Amino acid sequence: MATRALFPTLVYSASLQPRAGAALNRQLLRECVQLRHDDRAGRDWSARNYPGGYTSYQTQCRLQNISPTFARLERLLGAHVRCYAAALDFDLRGRALVMTDCWANLMRRQVVHSLHLHPLASISGTYYVRTPRGCAGLKFEDPRLERFMAAPPRKASARARSRAWVVYPARAGSLLLFESWLRHEVPPNPVNAERVSVSFNYSWF
Ligand code: NI
Repeated sequence: MATRALFPTLVYSASLQPRAGAALNRQLLRECVQLRHDDRAGRDWSARNYPGGYTSYQTQCRLQNISPTFARLERLLGAHVRCYAAALDFDLRGRALVMTDCWANLMRRQVVHSLHLHPLASISGTYYVRTPRGCAGLKFEDPRLERFMAAPPRKASARARSRAWVVYPARAGSLLLFESWLRHEVPPNPVNAERVSVSFNYSWF
């Protein structure tokens, strides 16, 4: 008798070196706040599409190319992306996974980022800069939900791998990587303090 897990959905989590992470986060936080101050078009776009919050997704989405601090983050993420690609058994001979987009997200209380995926990307992820105690995590959805038909519900005590939704807590200095087709959301931020993260996409060229 054998039960195998086929077609697994892999989510990668790791922390940057604590010392490097703390100094990097102070500077990232400064730049994210400054960016919101300077980016009028981004604030306008966010007011319409990200109520209560600010994201540079539509206006400054290649921060790794314009800020040495974000470029440093890109370098630190590189090793993790390679590790994740190895876990996925990606065949990248003659090609490389390259960061195409990198943007900032500032979420005050009750700001939400509803279910979405990242089209035109291979690997996506988030690095956490500031995570007040109790702030919203990142919620992943089982990509097979629409095929479940008559599948019975899962026990309340089901293991994470059997659940339809799994929430990863947001922790400053840590990162999450996932394949870009995996739907996810940030539920409403329940705490009265700003949650700051940097999201990014990688594609293979
Ligand atoms: Ni996302």
